[in-house]
Amino acid sequence: MKQVVADAAIREVKSDMILGLGSGSTAALMIKSLANEIRSGKLKNIKGVATSFQSEVLALELDIPLIDLASLPQIDLAIDGADEVDPGFQLIKGGGACHVREKLVASKANQLLIVVDETKLVQNLNQSFPLPVEVLPNAWKQVQEVISEMNGSSSLRMATKKAGPVVSDQGNLILDVLFNDGIKNPKDIEMKINNIPGVLENGLFVDLTDKVLVGKIEDNIPVVYSPSRAS
Ligand code: 5RP
Repeated sequence: MKQVVADAAIREVKSDMILGLGSGSTAALMIKSLANEIRSGKLKNIKGVATSFQSEVLALELDIPLIDLASLPQIDLAIDGADEVDPGFQLIKGGGACHVREKLVASKANQLLIVVDETKLVQNLNQSFPLPVEVLPNAWKQVQEVISEMNGSSSLRMATKKAGPVVSDQGNLILDVLFNDGIKNPKDIEMKINNIPGVLENGLFVDLTDKVLVGKIEDNIPVVYSPSRAS
């Protein structure tokens, strides 16, 4: 499912574009498909903007030319994965702790294309997938207390193959937050969380997504469709 949706995303790319390169396993497949198209000469003069060390390293390994976000007035198209997509195309991202740079890139993109498999489609956000919140290292306990006053339970994301917590690309920590009733008003929650002292950014992507490509299995064959946004 992830491979077909990654390949479908690359069909939206045209030569001469500046592309936001997302993070996560689906975005990684998309970056590999992009490299194949560049290598074969089908796509020319592409420049990528990385959303994480993961996408930067992959692009460098695959000889995709990179350009720094700070040097750009805008990005033509950003392609990224997501952890949850609701019917209005509001998202939870940050399963890979990359949502700070992912949101910067998405905000500078003329178009944001999201690539997911259908397990990521939900009616309401945050019923099961916790909202990632990046916090300054010495603020995590204080932020946790404020979130608990907002009826959210949070846990510090712990690393695997390293003792202690996950440290983000920016050197911060991640709180994963589940609200008692999920997130009904993403715009409101996005702003309230980002207003807590010590919070750098949260994984709610509100009113940023232009198009979603969904991979699913139909009659044992992986297919891709593009749902319309519910108003
Ligand atoms: C990383 C992200 C990813 O895009 C999101 O976690 C989806 O990843 P995957 O395609 O591996 O399921 O937001 O911070």
